[in-house]
Amino acid sequence: MGFKWMMMLVLCVLIGGSMGAKPNKPIDVPFGRNYEPSWAFDHIKYLNGGSEIQLSLDNRTVKRILSIWALCYAHKMVAGDSAGTVTAFYLSSQNSEHDEIDFEFLGNKTGEPYILQTNVYTGGKGDKEQRIYLWFDPTKDYHTYSILWNLYQIVFFVDEYPIRVFKNNKNLGIKFPFDQPMKIYSSLWEADDWATRGGLEKIDWSNAPFVASYKGFHIDGCESSVNAKFCANQGKSWWDQKEFQDLDTTQWRLLRRVRDKYTIYNYCTDKKRFSTMPKECKRNRDVPRNS
Ligand SMILES: *[C@@H]1O[C@H](CO)[C@@H](O)[C@H](O)[C@H]1NC(C)=O
Ligand SMILES: *[C@@H]1O[C@H](CO)[C@@H](O)[C@H](O)[C@H]1NC(C)=O
Repeated sequence: MGFKWMMMLVLCVLIGGSMGAKPNKPIDVPFGRNYEPSWAFDHIKYLNGGSEIQLSLDNRTVKRILSIWALCYAHKMVAGDSAGTVTAFYLSSQNSEHDEIDFEFLGNKTGEPYILQTNVYTGGKGDKEQRIYLWFDPTKDYHTYSILWNLYQIVFFVDEYPIRVFKNNKNLGIKFPFDQPMKIYSSLWEADDWATRGGLEKIDWSNAPFVASYKGFHIDGCESSVNAKFCANQGKSWWDQKEFQDLDTTQWRLLRRVRDKYTIYNYCTDKKRFSTMPKECKRNRDVPRNS
């Protein structure tokens, strides 16, 4: 995300190599088992013994950001007028040439649609934004936002729908996030200089606090130390097995449908920014194969 306010200091879970979006059997654990708040502690509310949490953003929030480290296995966005707010969920490594896998939810005026932006950073470089509308109102109910990251691919899921794939094509010289452990973060912040209608809609603080709710904090992955580059049992975990190495036919079809119906922006087709198409685009089937 490379956001200037995003500075987080507290160490939590380090995931090396892989983390799963489709665990064989998801087990919900309390927030505190794997995550810690790193900022604005008094703006986090714990519900149901910590199995649910809420982040809130108001004009008293220190520097107006909130960040916790959390995998939001299920997540409900800020409701009502959320223009100017961004709720994010992402993996990131700490290095200067860092890797990052991002879900960013751009808020909007009451009744106007959220935008879901995804991005992938490899070796410190992002510039791979895609934006879609969701086919539901993310403020009404909990939905599952998850990331499958293994040796072969990164897949972004919204509920059971794959919405984006980034394949490992290192052999073609395409960088793939792999040799640095990542931490899981989630945050809610003020971004009204760019988020809603390109920055036209400002945050209306009279609607504060803005609240995002989370539950079902599930992670599956191998725990890593800061210096370890790879999982000890590389290739042996469930997420590295055949069925997680590529999408199946049905999943490719679902992905195509989401793309065709809900895409707002795709860096792969932005000729103003990229006169030649970035070479991962075809591999990831971000564009029709004959284009
Ligand atoms: C907000 O709503 C407007 C009007 O419907 C729409 O053009 C825009 O894409 C929506 N989302 C954001 C984040 O601006
Ligand atoms: C915060 O918002 C409240 C309600 O809108 C307002 O009364 C108060 O002056 C604001 N405080 C700051 C520091 O902006």
